[in-house]
Order: sequence, then structure tokens, then C-alpha cells
Amino acid sequence: MYPSPAVYGSPRPRVSPRHTGPLSFPCLVDAPMCTPTPRGVTHRLELDVTAQDRDTVAGALWAAGALGVWERPGELVAWFAQTPDLERFPDGRWSVEPDRDWQAEWKATITPVAAGRIVVVPTWMADTHEPGPDELTLLLDPGRAFGSGHHATTLMCLEALDELARDGHLQGRQLADVGCGSGILAIAAAALGAQVQAVDIDPDAIAVTQENAARNGVDVPARRGSVDAVEGRVDVVVANLLTDVVAELSEPLVATSRGRLVVSGITTSRAEVALTPLRAAGLRIDEVRERDGWVAVLGTRSGRSDAGS
Ligand SMILES: C[S@@+](CC[C@H](N)C(=O)[O-])C[C@H]1O[C@@H](n2cnc3c(N)ncnc32)[C@H](O)[C@@H]1O
Repeated sequence: MYPSPAVYGSPRPRVSPRHTGPLSFPCLVDAPMCTPTPRGVTHRLELDVTAQDRDTVAGALWAAGALGVWERPGELVAWFAQTPDLERFPDGRWSVEPDRDWQAEWKATITPVAAGRIVVVPTWMADTHEPGPDELTLLLDPGRAFGSGHHATTLMCLEALDELARDGHLQGRQLADVGCGSGILAIAAAALGAQVQAVDIDPDAIAVTQENAARNGVDVPARRGSVDAVEGRVDVVVANLLTDVVAELSEPLVATSRGRLVVSGITTSRAEVALTPLRAAGLRIDEVRERDGWVAVLGTRSGRSDAGS
């Protein structure tokens, strides 16, 4: 576990040092972004990393006070507001660059994204977006939270939710979104007919989820906390977290579901770290999907032949 924003190396390196989530995630679009940084200059550090070291080094960068971490193939780029401690990353390539309007740059990279029938449209494109015939449009501003819809893990979860809905497993069912971020999965599930609750350890995520739910006219009670903050047991649990967090929470995640689970945020290279405890907790793994180095698991709590049906 590392003191970093729980972003998947989101294209927006998040700048707020008070975030203390576990890991950073790899970047999903080819541009860094972050909330506005202090004016003036930013110290840029480039480091070569192997796939195995990536999470650890990203964690160390966040711990060292990085404003943002951008994960690129074979390297990490981090920005610091303060004069860096050069000895801390001796192999790094440091440079100084003028501060930029990261928010504007990030917004320019975010476009509508489709997952099954769901199309996630950034709020600032709402006026120009023309919905398709069967489209379920979600208007979203991830703001300070993770979840614009572009990351492979979010997309795989959205697709799985759309499929569950098509197969009749969401309408009128109870669903918990553990690690709701922007609320994207909870809001999609609610729009697909589920009774939803959302939890996240990050207070920003709760505020952003509530704003986004209101924007989409759906009811998504959101509260701060982890899986233990979910009220009662639910028909479906969706949890897009991180490999180590999934491993750590495998028992309560499985126990909270009466039937289906959709779990992601698991890196392909370390999939067994999460899959083994999920199985041990009683999850029957129905399908493992992989995209861009990330895994999503679709499963059913063992012993539930009627699971979610
Ligand atoms: C990768 S984001 C997923 C956001 C969104 N659900 C999506 O699919 O795009 C992971 C989220 O999990 C939250 N998180 C991290 N550890 C957690 C934990 N132990 N319990 C609940 N939420 C957690 C983070 O704050 C973050 O908002």
C-alpha cells in the first residue's frame, strides 16, 4: 500500500497531497492532467521502470510529494512543486518546465466513451453530443475523483453492468459500488434499473458521486467508507479497486454479495494476487477479461445456483 491518490495513474495526476489511497494506476490517455498546480514552475522527473517495479516506484513518487504521476510504457513521469531532493531518485532525469493549465489540457483529452449501450459524455460536451438510438447517456464530470470512463477497468465494469442488465440481473436488484470514485459505475447501474449504494474512502469521491448522480437524475446514496460501510447484503457488488486492495477485501467483498460480483482494478501481471483470495473467499470465477494490462473478474458467490437470477 502506498500513500498516493487512488487513481490508476489517471491521466490527471492528482495534486492533492492529502489523498492517501493505496496506489497510482497507469495512465489511460496519452496526456497528463491534474488539478491546478501552484503557479510558477514545476519540476519534472522522468524515470525508467519495469512493469514489475511500476506500482512500487509510482507509490514512492506519490510519497515523495509528487503533484502527479504519469505512467507511460517503460517510464514514469512525475511533477513536483518543490525543489526536489535529487538524491532520492538518483537515476531520474530532472528538468524544469513552466506550470501549465493541467485542467484545461486534461479536459481536451476527454471525449465521449461507449461501453455497451452506455455512453459517458463529459458535462462540458453535453450541448454538442447527439445520442444514438439505443444509447444510455451518462453526463459525467469526474472532478477530483477517478472515473471518466476512459480507463480499461472502468470500461470493462461498465460493459459487465450493461450485460447484467441485458440478462435481467440489474432491474430492481440491489447493487453496491465499492470504490465509487466519480460514481460512474453506481450511476450507470442506477440508470439501468438497480437500487444502488456507493461507498468510497475518499470524501471527494462521495461529493463528486452525489453531484454526478443529481446531474443524471438517479438516486445513489453515497457514503464514506469501504465495503464494511455497505448496508446489508446486495445482489450485485461491483468493485473497481486495486490488486492489493481487492486481495485484502476479498472476503467481505464476496460476503457482501448474494450473487454476482464484478471486480476490477487488477493488473494482469499480478492477477493471481487478487484471484486466489477471491476464490478462497468463495467466489466462482465465471470469466476473466483482460484489456490494456488490466483484468476484470466476473464471478458468482459459490453455492448460489440462483445467484442474481
Ligand atoms: C480506480 S478508482 C475506481 C473509480 C470508479 N468506480 C471507476 O470504476 O472508474 C478506485 C476508487 O476506490 C477508492 N478506494 C481505494 N481503496 C478503497 C477501499 N479500501 N475501500 C473503498 N474504496 C477504496 C478510491 O478512493 C477510488 O475512488
